[in-house]
Amino acid sequence: MKIGVMGAMPQEIQHLISGIRNPRKHESGKREFVEGKLHDNEVVAVFSRWGKVAASSTATTLIERFGVELIIFAGVAGALDRALNIGDIVVASRLVQHDMDASAIPGVERFEIPLLGVPFFEPPADMVTKAEEASKIYLDIHMREDLSPDTLDYFGISAPKVVTGLVASGDQFIASDAVTEELCRALPELKCVEMEGAAVAQVAYEHNIPFVVLRTISDKADHSAAVDFPAFVERVASNFTFGCVSQLLRMLSGNNISDPHA
Ligand code: ADE
Repeated sequence: MKIGVMGAMPQEIQHLISGIRNPRKHESGKREFVEGKLHDNEVVAVFSRWGKVAASSTATTLIERFGVELIIFAGVAGALDRALNIGDIVVASRLVQHDMDASAIPGVERFEIPLLGVPFFEPPADMVTKAEEASKIYLDIHMREDLSPDTLDYFGISAPKVVTGLVASGDQFIASDAVTEELCRALPELKCVEMEGAAVAQVAYEHNIPFVVLRTISDKADHSAAVDFPAFVERVASNFTFGCVSQLLRMLSGNNISDPHA
């Protein structure tokens, strides 16, 4: 099975790309797609850049030009659920586009994708379970080998957890208590916000391709987000992405060794 691996930023995906054996590079739509073998899987890895348009165009190229049969998207997110902390991992069991609103038209609900008739997209349950397992192995076994106690202390990461739930995407970096409160009222079960996952989910749904979205919490989408997010991305995001995605790829190839560096 050929697998598309996407991240929104180079820091999140560069570590993975450097592990690809016999890499072949292709330019398309101002993006570099790197094809080759990673942990016994045929992969095409790419960073999409930010936002729903960039993510959907990249996902479409992965499907139509490279023929991928599964898409893994890994990156960071801002927490909306106040039980989440920086360093926790959210595996999306449902995704929604929080800035989709055609509800001024009678009969259309807020968040519903007009003419598609659905507000939520769901990855296959077995992919969600595998992504949860892979993320737990990274947090329980490898995170402390990867990151120094000082770095973990700096971000207040002590006992990070993996949770599964609703992830919302929109073309907005959210750094406001008022916006997070409104979103929590509209979508009470919401775990976190990011800018790409639900766009990839829509493309995957329309092409009938399985997908999974994993997000490490980099900030709390509030007044502190503009400081926490860049520091997390710069210093630790790529470790989390590399560790979790490597483990997931091993599970998918049936080679379930728990060392992401092997
Ligand atoms: N990705 C990481 N943090 C985010 C935030 N606060 N808003 C949107 N996307 C994010």
